Amino acid sequence: MKYYPINNQLFIKNRKNFTAKMKPNSLAVFNSNDIYPISADSTMPFEQHRDIFYLSGVDQEESILVLFPDCPKEKHREILFLRETNEHIAIWEGEKLTKDKAFQVSGIKTVYWLQDMEKIMFELMTQCDTVYINTNEHYRANVETETREDRYTKWLKEKYPAHSVAKSAPILQRLRSVKDPIEIDLIQKACDITEKGFRRVLNFVKPNVWEFEIEAEFIHEFLNNRSKKFAYTPIVASGNNANVLHYIENNQQCKAGDLILMDIGAEYANYSSDMTRTIPVSGRFNKRQKAVYNAVNRIKIEATKMLIPGTDWAAYHVEVGKLMTSELLLLGLLDKADVQNENPDWPAYKTYFMHGTSHHMGLDTHDYGILTEPMQPNMVFTVEPAIYIPDEGFGIRLEDDVVIQEHGEPFNLMRNIPIEADEIEDLMNS
Ligand code: GLY
Ligand code: MN
Ligand code: MN
Repeated sequence: MKYYPINNQLFIKNRKNFTAKMKPNSLAVFNSNDIYPISADSTMPFEQHRDIFYLSGVDQEESILVLFPDCPKEKHREILFLRETNEHIAIWEGEKLTKDKAFQVSGIKTVYWLQDMEKIMFELMTQCDTVYINTNEHYRANVETETREDRYTKWLKEKYPAHSVAKSAPILQRLRSVKDPIEIDLIQKACDITEKGFRRVLNFVKPNVWEFEIEAEFIHEFLNNRSKKFAYTPIVASGNNANVLHYIENNQQCKAGDLILMDIGAEYANYSSDMTRTIPVSGRFNKRQKAVYNAVNRIKIEATKMLIPGTDWAAYHVEVGKLMTSELLLLGLLDKADVQNENPDWPAYKTYFMHGTSHHMGLDTHDYGILTEPMQPNMVFTVEPAIYIPDEGFGIRLEDDVVIQEHGEPFNLMRNIPIEADEIEDLMNS
């Protein structure tokens, strides 16, 4: 791992919170992700499943976590099954978790090698009535592959058809949406690394630079600061590319006078950051670009103030829509008739701003969270208003990550990342 060790109190507390929500005499199982193949003997880099990571800190393939809080044998209340490490594996693949290291990382005392899993699971299953399985119920999930978790669930249900089944997803959706202070520090670290990348880019951008050269500047700074990668596929979109919402080619030359929309964040220790900044290729916004930029920035500032305990996610979006409508009227992009005749299901402002303003952010960039329940302190949300104007050859989005506070305005984890148009211009011309 490139990241520094994480205080294992986080994982101990996460397990305690999870098991407190389990039914009597039940156990829960969580699997690592597979290492996905490319072809021949090449593979994609390993990415741990965020749930087993959240509950154990184990960042290794072929791992299984079992939680059985009512188990008659105390040593079986928390178990890790890990792939056995030996000298041969150490030589070819490098260090894997030993039982002792796994205990240090996770705080779990009972660690078995994977080859003992079936035998020990048989004992555990004879002692429990209900098994919690971990299905992917994220509102944006669209998974075509069978995961390691899916295969394990199939095996378990076939081998133990008389057990009742319960869902881990609703428990995790709730727990993971409210961040522990240790998690907020990790997200802050990811945001700080993103800041370093952005400041480097402000010094680097000039007319005729290529979008992929900007991407390269970011990843250089990320790797130098112990981030292993982009938290999500980065968008570096100059000119009209900014109006393609999921533009990820990043293969065009940036022309003098255009803007560049950059939606880029570093990961750190599997935690995301999610930033968008829009900057002028030539180091100065023109008058129209600045007017639209400042409108987006004002909406962002006002929207952020609404992220307080008790706010309803859907109602918040309606309010942001009203702010957006007023700004679009002032910019002459909408007129009164557009608004009077608008379709309530697709209001007029959506011509220029067609995506959501906020999502939960954390171990997943689009993190877990139940969007029909009121916002709570220590939830982390993005705020990302935008105005896309293909007819004028540019689009502007600004995005910060903020933590909801018990009282008052949210705490902005990206407070140090330049955003005011004048500051961006000053930095680009200094
Ligand atoms: N970068 C993905 C998003 O802003 O939601
Ligand atoms: Mn976002
Ligand atoms: Mn983003």
